[in-house]
Amino acid sequence: MNIIVCDSYDELSESAAKIVAKQVNEKADCVLGLATGSTPVGMYNVLAKKNKAGEVDFSRVRSVNLDEYYPISPDNPQSYHYFMKENLFSKINIDMANTHILDGMCKDAEAECERFERLIESLGGVDLQILGIGQNGHIGFNEPDSSLNSHTHLTKLTENTISANSRFFDDISEVPTMALTMGIGTILAARKIILLANGAAKRNAVSELLDNSITTESPASMLKVHKNVILICDRDAYPGGANV
Ligand code: GLP
Repeated sequence: MNIIVCDSYDELSESAAKIVAKQVNEKADCVLGLATGSTPVGMYNVLAKKNKAGEVDFSRVRSVNLDEYYPISPDNPQSYHYFMKENLFSKINIDMANTHILDGMCKDAEAECERFERLIESLGGVDLQILGIGQNGHIGFNEPDSSLNSHTHLTKLTENTISANSRFFDDISEVPTMALTMGIGTILAARKIILLANGAAKRNAVSELLDNSITTESPASMLKVHKNVILICDRDAYPGGANV
């Protein structure tokens, strides 16, 4: 795993945006795997600036998102549909018809997950997957468990994740308890992965990612089997901390 330790969140955002822009400039119709959460917001802002400055063109880019709450309407400001429009899609020249997010309103979750797997296949697979990391080591919404589902699936959120994500909602009771998410196998099938981690709250999860074990109790540790992963983190999230 390649590791980039940054001095600040701004540097982390710049560093991640540079990798995404390079990917798009190398392959104009590449497939980006996109993530939500507060961590990638800075990177999306830098990408929007680069797009406006004519440094990167998203007009032919296709995108698939990692996950979505379930059930949730795309108009709900806490939905990942809404998040992506607010934080990226409305700010760049991507064709909305080329953006794909799991349907949080679907009636048949199993069929929706199957559709999403087939869709990724039909796009030719993900060229670059962006990931954040949960405080408990989750990636997408693959929560720590005794076993992990390889494919896109409906999952129950842990108390830890519900509590961590409640900061975005008016009340913790409004946080959905379920989500649709790409599976670990879906994520690992991406040709390249960048994982972003910012702040001391992520240090334990990053530490488990960097130690020698691979365990379903730390879903991010599964990334160790992938040949092309870059971890971009700030000093607070990095277990070596200030000494790096
Ligand atoms: C959510 C998302 C994850 C994200 C995580 C961390 O649970 N499903 O994809 O990595 O939040 O979010 P944040 O970056 O806000 O800490």
